[in-house]
Amino acid sequence: MKENENELLDLDEEGNIKDKTPEKNNKNKDNHFKIIVTIIIILIIICAIILIFKFYKTNHIELIISNDYDEMSKKAADIITELLKNNPNAILGLATGSTPIGTYNELINRYNKKEISFENVTTFNLDEYIGLEQLHPQSYYKYMYEHLFKHININLDNTHIPKGEGNPEENVKEYESLLKNNKINLQILGVGRNGHIGFNEPGTNFDIGVHDVILHNKTVKDNARFFENDINKVPKKAITMGIKNILDAETIILMANGTDKAEAIKNVMGNRVDVNIPVTALQMHKGKVYVIVDKKAASKL
Ligand code: F6R
Repeated sequence: MKENENELLDLDEEGNIKDKTPEKNNKNKDNHFKIIVTIIIILIIICAIILIFKFYKTNHIELIISNDYDEMSKKAADIITELLKNNPNAILGLATGSTPIGTYNELINRYNKKEISFENVTTFNLDEYIGLEQLHPQSYYKYMYEHLFKHININLDNTHIPKGEGNPEENVKEYESLLKNNKINLQILGVGRNGHIGFNEPGTNFDIGVHDVILHNKTVKDNARFFENDINKVPKKAITMGIKNILDAETIILMANGTDKAEAIKNVMGNRVDVNIPVTALQMHKGKVYVIVDKKAASKL
């Protein structure tokens, strides 16, 4: 009976109240342990989220820094070569300007060595000046013919460049519907010093498709080098794919060389999408983006 009483009252054999301090200490230790484990789990989850985010960013925009312009051009040509080998019917988006000339030369070399064929390739160019005749020495039509098309076995009927002559509204509609029916597998881009891509100047809405533009003074000045350095000879309007069309491409290669482009490259590799820096729209691309630059264009990274 005495034993039962002691148990009920939680007394020891001599009738003293049992000392529960060690039990309490153990419970406290248990609670501390649980709190620490919870904190560690939360930290692991936060780290995993950061890593997944970083992996997604670097996986989506791959930066390739080359020693010089030639190496940059070859690296871009390597990616295009691989695509043409895997998909001889590929649809390419092409750019003009000084940046892609080395890549076009490299593709011509590889075509001459029979490494690649353009027989079944289709192309869509980004843009064209409005008001220049198709065969004007500075039209983008002429540029493409001189720098690439006349050297390879492409069917000219499969090459598309927005029309700079005729009714601008109709030309815009026609190019937009062509793009709707042809998904670009690989889009090549250069970038302007002010961050423009195609002729999408700073401030252009990222949601619009093919459209007419009035060129910014900076772009007109930059392009004067192709018009005997005479600003008056540079067309002031152009027709261009919109950012929306560019982002529709499966894969994008952005190329840039020289310190003039360093700021634009810093912006595209950053985390801020800014309508005033059109190239930053590439951060929103759903597929793969290769940013291939020389050391000078990478100097602000
Ligand atoms: C050309 C084009 C432009 C150029 C840009 C850079 O089709 O769309 O956006 O890519 O103006 O020009 P370059 O390469 O001459 O520095």
